[in-house]
Amino acid sequence: MLRSLLIFSVVSLALSIVHSTKLNFENHTLYSLSLYSTKQLDVINQLQINPDFDIWNNIQSLDEEIDVFLSVESFEKYKKILKAFGIKYRVKNSNIQQAIDEELVGNFQIPFRKLFSNSNVTRYLNYKEIVELMSRLSYENSFLVSNYSAAKTHLNNDLMVLKLKTPTSVRSLWLDCGIHAREWITISTCVYIMEKLIDSYKNNDLDVVRLLNYYEIHIMPVANPDGYEYSITTDRMWRKNRNSNDNSGCYGVDLNRNFGFFWSTGGSIITYCGIVLVAINSYESLTIYGNETIQGYIDRGVQNMDPHIFSLFESVFQKMIQFDQNQLVSGESDAGVTLSARYAMRYFANVSETLKETQVETKV
Ligand SMILES: *[C@@H]1O[C@H](CO)[C@@H](O)[C@H](O)[C@H]1NC(C)=O
Ligand SMILES: *[C@@H]1O[C@H](CO)[C@@H](O)[C@H](O)[C@H]1NC(C)=O
Ligand SMILES: *[C@@H]1O[C@H](CO)[C@@H](O)[C@H](O)[C@H]1NC(C)=O
Ligand SMILES: *[C@@H]1O[C@H](CO)[C@@H](O)[C@H](O)[C@H]1NC(C)=O
Ligand SMILES: *[C@@H]1O[C@H](CO)[C@@H](O)[C@H](O)[C@H]1NC(C)=O
Repeated sequence: MLRSLLIFSVVSLALSIVHSTKLNFENHTLYSLSLYSTKQLDVINQLQINPDFDIWNNIQSLDEEIDVFLSVESFEKYKKILKAFGIKYRVKNSNIQQAIDEELVGNFQIPFRKLFSNSNVTRYLNYKEIVELMSRLSYENSFLVSNYSAAKTHLNNDLMVLKLKTPTSVRSLWLDCGIHAREWITISTCVYIMEKLIDSYKNNDLDVVRLLNYYEIHIMPVANPDGYEYSITTDRMWRKNRNSNDNSGCYGVDLNRNFGFFWSTGGSIITYCGIVLVAINSYESLTIYGNETIQGYIDRGVQNMDPHIFSLFESVFQKMIQFDQNQLVSGESDAGVTLSARYAMRYFANVSETLKETQVETKV
């Protein structure tokens, strides 16, 4: 007991050291890859499953270069594969740490001068500063502005929203920024837009007055505060939130790959540990996997019901009876296969009882 306690405290000490140390990216390099075949594109798509193969832009087509961020060791590892498939690369930035040092919160002026000229936004604000700013803007401009918390994050931060509303507005617009923690400039863009809209409205800018007379506008400048703070304090390259992923030791869900709509598309990876990650079933917390839902799908054709994994199992079940089959092969991969197999068994167990076909459950 004492022994395991000791080990536990050593482990948690080690963890806390890891967490408070800022990662250093000295000699980490940004490469540009040029591809000319879909075969090569497939290779890159495969490689991005690795947490250390960090693609920075969207892979759209073969005509565009692909930017990949690699440590010295990772480059050594992937160089051979790139060579083997004839993928050409060039160095775009050979020391990312230098760029990071230059943009340190509080000191980074260059993009702001260019992008946000004549603005009150002159540097990257951290989450707390942005919350304070929103509160101040609400307080000083209460005829137009208020702020509310839309929800709490895993680390209990508020997802704060600034609301601009005139008495005549009839429709709503939503704007959020910073869903990927490391994409700091988007957060500043939202902050800029908040301030600009308020100032322009007050200065009777006709376009803005018309806009706000018709639309109320809701702006969430930091859609991922947990990740944003972590990217400031610890890992500048952090992209996901800080969900503990069932205490797997790997943190974070890639938030905009985890919507129920178009779930897991666009290069997302089903693992707890990758940079881009989908490991969490976005519908898990909804009560749509219970016996009651199963009952709704029994004996209904696929085309008659809302899409659901149970709808698929219903047609599988019918076919198994029709063709007297007893084997089911699930074609999903990675985490999906376990989960869908679990739901399949749940479905068949319930259905077989309902239909008094007690043999089926044992067959499954
Ligand atoms: C980065 O590269 C330089 C030059 O090769 C080398 O002297 C230095 O030790 C490297 N730093 C790290 C952290 O690897
Ligand atoms: C929003 O801003 C006001 C200042 O007007 C502040 O008092 C209030 O606590 C904020 N609302 C929330 C939900 O945080
Ligand atoms: C921006 O700064 C100007 C000048 O200090 C000030 O008048 C204005 O109220 C500020 N805008 C906001 C939205 O705080
Ligand atoms: C479904 O009903 C059975 C039998 O009543 C029960 O054992 C099982 O836990 C239920 N499953 C769910 C997901 O509620
Ligand atoms: C099937 O679902 C119904 C409805 O919830 C429940 O009453 C029944 O106990 C379930 N049977 C099994 C074997 O899961």
